[in-house]
Amino acid sequence: MHHFVHLSENIYWIGVNDRRTQLFENQWPLPNGIAYNSYLILDEKTALVDTVSMCSMDTFLEKAKEILNGRSLDYLIINHMEPDHSGAIRTVVNEFPDVQIVGNAKTFPMLQGFYNITENLMEVEENSLIDLGKHKLRFYMTPMVHWPETMMTYEETEKILFSADAFGSFGTLDGGIFDDEINLDFYEEELRRYYSNIVGKYGLQVQKAMDKLAGLEIKMIASTHGPIWRSHIPKIINDYQRWSRNETEEGVVIVFGSMYGNTEKMAEIIARTLSEEGIRNIRIFDSSKTHSSYIINAIWKYKGVILGSSAYNGGIFTPMRDLIRELEHIMPKNHFLGIFGSMSWGGGGVRTLEKFAETIKWELVAPPVEAKHAAQEKDTEHLVRIGKEMARRLREEKK
Ligand code: FEO
Repeated sequence: MHHFVHLSENIYWIGVNDRRTQLFENQWPLPNGIAYNSYLILDEKTALVDTVSMCSMDTFLEKAKEILNGRSLDYLIINHMEPDHSGAIRTVVNEFPDVQIVGNAKTFPMLQGFYNITENLMEVEENSLIDLGKHKLRFYMTPMVHWPETMMTYEETEKILFSADAFGSFGTLDGGIFDDEINLDFYEEELRRYYSNIVGKYGLQVQKAMDKLAGLEIKMIASTHGPIWRSHIPKIINDYQRWSRNETEEGVVIVFGSMYGNTEKMAEIIARTLSEEGIRNIRIFDSSKTHSSYIINAIWKYKGVILGSSAYNGGIFTPMRDLIRELEHIMPKNHFLGIFGSMSWGGGGVRTLEKFAETIKWELVAPPVEAKHAAQEKDTEHLVRIGKEMARRLREEKK
């Protein structure tokens, strides 16, 4: 028996928590787990909005069948085909063979490709409406938030936006399902980490989607991950506005790659200078220890980024190489940049970071510093200069 969660009298949350999976998309750490949210609407017709990951579908199906209580499922709405939401589709179709599968022109080739499902398809487009009786589902195409087929479904009677990945978060729902039932401080970092890691590359498309939805009266935002928003809707919309425009706070993220500690010492000199210059948000990360997921999240928060690397076999130190490749893939914008490192016998760390600066087009606040081995007096002066120039640009930005 399940303890059901109502969004309204006849709309239910039937999501599941995943506390076992270590890595989301097999690459992003899940220390706090993740929730896959799915919603069931009972009316003259019944509709399921999105499903869950394959690894959690037994509980999900139990909940759906218990609520349906012998009724059939009329519609399955697929807002997003990524398998963390589509994984249970085949099971749902097996259970309810007459269900109409609702998607758009880009959904169905994926449905066939992933699950070999080609029948009972109902194609919708921008502004299409499905009338369930009392509830009416309106569809909005929101491509690339997060895949090309992604769309959102707006239930016009209760004014609930089923937003797919948008407004979602890492972290399980530990009892509290709605934003006013939980301590939002817990989700603060996980919301931005989810945005920056998963959706951040598509900021322009997020902006387009937000513009499109701006005219809707929204009483609840029901994402496929994380809490359901009903009491803090302006807060989460404001977060998405800021993050998708790459708006940041005053602060500096320093990331170093260091085999024997010499480059780390250089990072400490810059950090101390920043502190002396009045910067209060300074985070230092060791790229060998901290997964890029957390570093990218910090970069999404703070304006200043200072990267330092030792050389490695004539190139850049491997964990720093991986980080800058990830950043070049996601392409966060509007940062100030500083570069430092040590060359040892062959150099290559600073040289590679300089190429990265050209690619990413962040403003370089001071000339890069490259120590020959360990930093000497003259190197220290230049490191202090990076700290001072970064602080100066941040202060100017604040005015
Ligand atoms: Fe939660 Fe893009 O899937």
